[in-house]
Amino acid sequence: MDKLVIKGQNRLKGEVIISGAKNAAVAIIPAAIMADDVCIIENLPYIEDVKCLFATLNKLGAKCEYIDKHTLRIDSRNLENVSVTFEEVRKMRASYYLLGALLARFKSAEVAMPGGCNFGTRPIDLHLSGFASLGAEVEMKGEVVKVSAQSLKGASIYMDTVSVGATINIMLAASMAEGVTTIENAAREPHVVDAANFLNMMGANIKGAGTDVIRITGVEKLHGAQYTIIPDQIEAGTYMIAAAVTKGDVVVKNIIPTHMDSLSAKLLEIGVGVEEGDDYIRVFYDDKEYKGVNVRTMAYPGFPTDMQPQMAVLLSVCKGKSVITENVWDKRYQYTDELKRLGAKINVEGRMAIIEGVESLTGTDVDATDLRAGAAMILAGLCARGETVVGEVKYIDRGYEEVENKFGLLGADIKRVSM
Ligand code: EPZ
Repeated sequence: MDKLVIKGQNRLKGEVIISGAKNAAVAIIPAAIMADDVCIIENLPYIEDVKCLFATLNKLGAKCEYIDKHTLRIDSRNLENVSVTFEEVRKMRASYYLLGALLARFKSAEVAMPGGCNFGTRPIDLHLSGFASLGAEVEMKGEVVKVSAQSLKGASIYMDTVSVGATINIMLAASMAEGVTTIENAAREPHVVDAANFLNMMGANIKGAGTDVIRITGVEKLHGAQYTIIPDQIEAGTYMIAAAVTKGDVVVKNIIPTHMDSLSAKLLEIGVGVEEGDDYIRVFYDDKEYKGVNVRTMAYPGFPTDMQPQMAVLLSVCKGKSVITENVWDKRYQYTDELKRLGAKINVEGRMAIIEGVESLTGTDVDATDLRAGAAMILAGLCARGETVVGEVKYIDRGYEEVENKFGLLGADIKRVSM
């Protein structure tokens, strides 16, 4: 089991190249099997979740091969298996996209209920009610979800809650339904737009992705496509906060700056230097004392919930009081116990975390409790006095490519040890 050993207080300096977006990749790879054809997906992050989907597609009968570390060739011409109940699939949440993709092409699918980060209940009722609206039969068989339909018919669907996964999954199924589907109160995240763009490259007819009303006109068949994934908004934000919390000077490259607007605004409010270019953002210590601010997570374009733990680390060493309100997940504060062991003054009351800034954190042994909490533990170790050992690195490897190498290139004293 790997651990990361970090000696804190090096100011990070230099440039970091952001990888492709995990949450776009885990939707686009399943979408590729909707075509009885070959797809080439570029700029994929070389992370565990993508490797997991790679293995699953091959088990399904697709011929999936790495052209290079960041490019997959997916040949779905011989794919006919619609049952995905493998152990791998239970490790990640995005396995649910296989339901929408297989239902679209084969009008039938059986997928093990998703695993993934555990921060409270993570239902998929909106996915399943969306499939039912399109005419599918939905059956729960223990931990396995089974969906099937004689045919899929377009429908008007209003999402009770803004849901990234349900929006994308319904978009997948509706792409090959008869007639028009509208999704109202749709999620607007960049990875929703990326999935829609990929489907349109395959011959789908999707309009309005990125707004809260998406209109899908179903087509008979989809064809193969070559597509480049967008950069990862959350990886980029993690490195932006790393530059801020170590009082360094880092150029975060190969990003789409507008995706970072909510974080850039918060960093400026705290007193961090932020300069925007066309495909990079420079984050630097601007000789100002960092002051505490309030953060409310919400669906895009609001402040991303996936940046909440990382932001809590920065706020822990800002002067004064900060309040975080987590509006998306009902239990996304497990990491605060670990943060308190590093000396943070943070109190959780329901959806709110109240933080009293401290001079600095002090290194100790901590564990990643989930993917973004793990990223937060790294940021805490980078700014803490002394040594921090981060355990359960497997969570971090699900969503961050070569994390110790990227931080090492920025001057962090960080090394991976296998225990
Ligand atoms: C996606 O999860 C991301 N994962 C999550 O990122 C992210 O936290 C989340 O969107 C919100 O942005 C992937 O894209 C693989 P949701 P998802 O459906 O789609 C409720 C990371 O760190 N809901 O947008 O599962 C749900 O309980 C991960 O990369 C229902 O009630 O999230 C939550 O309160 C962690 N019923 C809210 O909607 C449903 O059927 C938003 O969830 C679905 C969701």
